[in-house]
Amino acid sequence: MKYTVGIITLSDKGSKGQREDKSGPAIREILEADGRFKIEEQILLSDNREELEKELLRLCDDLKLNLILTTGGTGLSARDNTPEATLAVAHRQIPGIAEYMRARSFEITPKAMLSRGVSVMRGSTLIINLPGSPKAVRENLGFIMPALSHGLDIMLGTGGECGSD
Ligand code: MTE
Repeated sequence: MKYTVGIITLSDKGSKGQREDKSGPAIREILEADGRFKIEEQILLSDNREELEKELLRLCDDLKLNLILTTGGTGLSARDNTPEATLAVAHRQIPGIAEYMRARSFEITPKAMLSRGVSVMRGSTLIINLPGSPKAVRENLGFIMPALSHGLDIMLGTGGECGSD
């Protein structure tokens, strides 16, 4: 069984057709190359907080997806609402994922400190905020992929022996 996934790109310009979304497709490409993930939804939204909350609730509660990856809207501008929307729907925070992404990203750029992305669970859905650029998406997904399936297995109760390594 593959992990079911939703991809959400947050971009005011992208949603108006003023900028091509390269980050959502980058996430799709990486997950499809891995082979263990099935992309059920790939959505492009504006940076409107309410809209994102609504979509997160639909993907978690109605579609019951295993994983949602967002890209964009984690920075410091007034329209960067992704962490707030994610925390508003969260049942539990999983801070280590976001901490690890930032820690590893500092090796590449000090600008990593400007992402406020969070990682949380709602029910049996893991939600992870990635920064907005395709470069940042590739770097951050590369960092977390080695532990991601282990976390998903434990969350879903489908395995996850921690003592074996
Ligand atoms: N993390 C990595 N690994 N690589 C990057 O290029 N860009 C940073 C940061 N995190 C970056 C990164 C930059 S420039 C910003 S402004 C923040 O992510 C927030 O990005 P966002 O507002 O597009 O989500």
